[in-house]
Amino acid sequence: MSSKSEVLQWKYVNFLINKNNNFNKKAILKLLSSEDIDEAYKTISNWNSYSPTPLISLNKLNQKLKLKKILYKDESKRFHLKSFKALGGAYAVEKIVKGNDKAVISTATAGNHGRSVAWGSKKLGLKCKIFISEFVSEFRAEVMRSFGADVIRVKGNYDNSLKECVKQSKENNWQIVQDVAWQGYKLAPTLTMAGYTVMMKEISEQVNKEKISHVILQAGVGGMAAAMVAGIARYLNNVPKIIVVEPDSAACVLESIKAGKIKKISIKKESLMGGMSCDEVSLVPWEILKNSVSHCITVTDDHISKTVKSLANCEFSDEKIVGGECSTPGIISLASLCNNKKIKNEINLNEDSCVLLFGCEGDADEELYQKLLNS
Ligand SMILES: Cc1ncc(COP(=O)(O)O)c(C=O)c1O
Repeated sequence: MSSKSEVLQWKYVNFLINKNNNFNKKAILKLLSSEDIDEAYKTISNWNSYSPTPLISLNKLNQKLKLKKILYKDESKRFHLKSFKALGGAYAVEKIVKGNDKAVISTATAGNHGRSVAWGSKKLGLKCKIFISEFVSEFRAEVMRSFGADVIRVKGNYDNSLKECVKQSKENNWQIVQDVAWQGYKLAPTLTMAGYTVMMKEISEQVNKEKISHVILQAGVGGMAAAMVAGIARYLNNVPKIIVVEPDSAACVLESIKAGKIKKISIKKESLMGGMSCDEVSLVPWEILKNSVSHCITVTDDHISKTVKSLANCEFSDEKIVGGECSTPGIISLASLCNNKKIKNEINLNEDSCVLLFGCEGDADEELYQKLLNS
């Protein structure tokens, strides 16, 4: 099957309209304030080697889907860490330790957040302890070690690694810098989200005068998606349709939006999109997402490899793009939405639409990337 016809066959699994959708800029910026957002940009844009990541036109994909424009924020180029997560954890470390050079930093991670925390700790000369589950690849563990972190592997899933991190951190007085919030633990995740908003600041300048009509946001625990919503409130003059995409096996945001309250789901099978395989939306993101998301959509892992290859082989754009597994669901869900005429009409996806997608990571896990590229 040619790539053209293949993309035009793709289908999503679930699609949900948020009946509580009511974007309230003031309420959003109460949860993640303009001051916090501005401080993050001021700090991060002063880091050595900072430069905005590219916003690439997927002009060839657009020829197939027949919209006005598809823009892809390419986070494979974020510092040398290969994902947007570089903006969050490292920033939170810096703000939390406030110059204390004796602090020991800890975190639990699916990979990219830990890489950022390890990098941020190293920059400040701090010791760092990273907890990972049995599902995190040894390749990712090795990268974190290369930033000087002690990597502790825990039996079981991400939740187990987080529990162990909290336990050992309490015993040893380590400073946890987690990207997930819970009751009484909100500062680090909020700072992490503030770091992510740098992406939207850059985008607001890169789009020039183009009005973004739709944005598709990947979600794990919802931190990235909520940060982009706050970025939209802070930097854009219009409110696009905000669509959250998740692996069908880990649709904790969709299930929570459907229920109108946080729902913990049970993950039967881990998605290949490891960073998005999360069973519960985080507290602060939930408060932001519950009314601002217009739609939720879920996709399977089936088209990840094809999407990775198409990005690499210039089938979607003039230039080659290195997009890892978590970079693919925006494209897969957009094509799937366009392939359903009724839904496409309902959400106003047409030749006037300018759609923003996030290429959240590059080949952050090089081994998996090569596997996807060559399968
Ligand atoms: C690598 C990676 N990790 C995690 C996530 C999810 O972020 P969050 O857990 O903040 O929702 C994404 C989003 O696509 C991602 O690309």
